[in-house]
Amino acid sequence: MSSEAKAGKAVFGRVCASCHAGPQFTDGRFHTILPVNAADRGLAEVTGKAEDEGRFRTPTLRNVAATGPWFHDGSARTLRQAVTRHPVTLDASETDQLLAYLEALTDRGFMENSAFAYPDRPCAKD
Ligand code: HEC
Repeated sequence: MSSEAKAGKAVFGRVCASCHAGPQFTDGRFHTILPVNAADRGLAEVTGKAEDEGRFRTPTLRNVAATGPWFHDGSARTLRQAVTRHPVTLDASETDQLLAYLEALTDRGFMENSAFAYPDRPCAKD
């Protein structure tokens, strides 16, 4: 990891890891990050409870630099937007450090390894 990504890891531990927790970078719980929208109610669509309006499950951040557009509704067009639209206070250098760390969580070598690709033709039927 670059020194910037390492600095981002420290910021992440302080500001982000309460929700993006553990090896899968998720606590598996529901939180409100974006403004509540009556047309896109999140958990409340299932539970009908007022306190669940606008709550969505914390997503993993594995390979996150390659999975845009971000948020459940695709409304963050860049990874920077996805980070800065959280209700947290970050200065510009902390944001840059976090972006370097999120890039370091993205294993392009694995994703582009042809040994793990779909086969180029259907498997033979017996
Ligand atoms: C209060 C819990 C919480 C905290 C703290 C938090 N996140 Fe999130 N994060 C979420 C939830 C929930 C979503 C999904 C929101 C949605 O789709 O509406 C999310 C979405 C994201 C996404 C988009 C992922 C995707 O695949 O769409 C990124 C990137 C992200 N968070 C990074 C961060 C970073 C970096 C921090 C620290 C600055 C942080 N988060 C702090 C809960 C949190």
